[in-house]
Amino acid sequence: MSRKKILLANWKMNTNYNEAVTLAQEMDYERKAFAGIDTVVCPPYISLKGVGNVFAFDKSPLMLGAQDVFWEQDGAYTGFISASMLKSLAVSYCIVGHSERRHHAKEDDKTVGLKAQALLEAGITPVICVGEPPVVYEAGSTREFVSEQLSVALEQVEDPQNLVVAYEPIWAIGSGKVASPLHVQEVLSALRAVLEARFGAERAEAMRLVYGGSVMAENIHAYSEIEELDGFLVGGASLDAQKFAAIAKNMK
Ligand code: 13P
Repeated sequence: MSRKKILLANWKMNTNYNEAVTLAQEMDYERKAFAGIDTVVCPPYISLKGVGNVFAFDKSPLMLGAQDVFWEQDGAYTGFISASMLKSLAVSYCIVGHSERRHHAKEDDKTVGLKAQALLEAGITPVICVGEPPVVYEAGSTREFVSEQLSVALEQVEDPQNLVVAYEPIWAIGSGKVASPLHVQEVLSALRAVLEARFGAERAEAMRLVYGGSVMAENIHAYSEIEELDGFLVGGASLDAQKFAAIAKNMK
């Protein structure tokens, strides 16, 4: 089964509006590097429109993603943003369940699943993040931990379509430490098994699995042999267009 590679930039809570628009232009300038790879840029909410305008105006192959969503359609939910609102800005991907949201906004597996389902209903591809804290990693229980995270979330998902799962060990995020290729391979196999159990082998096989955590152009060669790996979710290195493009070049 050949799955198209995917590369996602998670800008997190970085860049003001003007900086985001400039960075989007710089990324599009590097577009050759991204040829053949689904490349998704996830700016903060306030810059979705501006970044989307850059991509539309330049007829860019880069796609727009969001970093979070609320699961209700509309109503009295002050400060929240719905999937249909994101859709109205031509958002095509949305991250859900990032460990920083699980930590700071107290999200749990069930709400992550509700968000994924709301996105699918709006025609947006969810990128469901899972990942273990250091203590779980050190205890050798990562596979059980992330399998549980994913299977509880997927209980809320009726038709998964083309959803993406991101494995991001918490200890590897922003730390400069990366998970070993063997560890990533084992974890991704476990996640694929969860998808299979829930949706059947054929559908599970078509879904893309990505790794995130201190990804840089210099350290991704080690992952090139991992059959289950379809791309990367990048934080820090996605705030520099050339560094981000270098990752894409090294994925080929
Ligand atoms: P870093 O690439 O900065 O480690 O962040 C990873 C991440 O959390 C992407 O969602």
